Amino acid sequence: MASNMMSDTAASGEQNVRNYYREVLDNNKLPSLPVVASKVLEMIQDPGISIQKLSRLLADDVGLSARVLTVSRSPQYAQRNLPTTLLGAVQVLGLRTLRSIVVMQATQSLCIKGNETSERLWRHSLAVALAMRVLCERAGVRDGEQGFLTGLMHDVGQMILVQGDPAAYAKLGREIQQAPCAIVDKEQASYGLDHTLMGFTLLNSWNLDSQIAQAALNHHSDLQMDGGNKLSAILTVADYLCSKCGLGFFTEPASPAAEALAMCQCADDGSMSQVIEEIQEAYQAESELFKPA
Ligand SMILES: [Fe+2]
Ligand SMILES: [Fe+2]
Repeated sequence: MASNMMSDTAASGEQNVRNYYREVLDNNKLPSLPVVASKVLEMIQDPGISIQKLSRLLADDVGLSARVLTVSRSPQYAQRNLPTTLLGAVQVLGLRTLRSIVVMQATQSLCIKGNETSERLWRHSLAVALAMRVLCERAGVRDGEQGFLTGLMHDVGQMILVQGDPAAYAKLGREIQQAPCAIVDKEQASYGLDHTLMGFTLLNSWNLDSQIAQAALNHHSDLQMDGGNKLSAILTVADYLCSKCGLGFFTEPASPAAEALAMCQCADDGSMSQVIEEIQEAYQAESELFKPA
């Protein structure tokens, strides 16, 4: 069953997710957004933001500060003079990239180090994030960082399900490979909810843009071209192409709509192969930088 924001089924499904999510939080299985991350995200939304204040706030979280500095000094982002302070790092990265790093750092706490299923899902999420950057540029979407964040978070619902019981989710994945069916149907049957609803709820609770939450909600549904949310359509292409280049997660998503492929300028085999190559190159260049600590 495809998720649909407007249907009664989705509404009751969403309530299921909220209940489950509350239970997870109450049992301390899922860390909520760390205090510093939450404050940084709030501050970034303030039009009168002070970069100095923001940098001082970042310094309160040692792990996050280290990550911001490392990324700002990497070949992909660095300028001629490498930043040595958090203030300089924020200036190099810009607020949109900083937001991605803050969310990424917080999300990494959902990745279980050493667990194959969990690590594979992290690799998939990062690959889709990087693919979104590539595809947003091709589709003429100026805010590639919004795309990056959408890709990174699109399967966060699965991260929660995997974190809750990695062996059970791996079993579910193997069953789908043996008897192919839609992953959301299989999750509904096993958990009474699916990862798109779970992700939608989490992203709302983290106060990320509604466009990102909506794309996560619709990425396995027929609503991918709905509502003028280009990110939803591009996400289906990114998810599909990552699966094609060996960076998928258990199942190959359905083929994207022809309009979505055309929007990303990869409707024919030649341009699709070229995009796949670009995605692989981006992954090779950046995956090390964003490895879970
Ligand atoms: Fe998914
Ligand atoms: Fe995915």
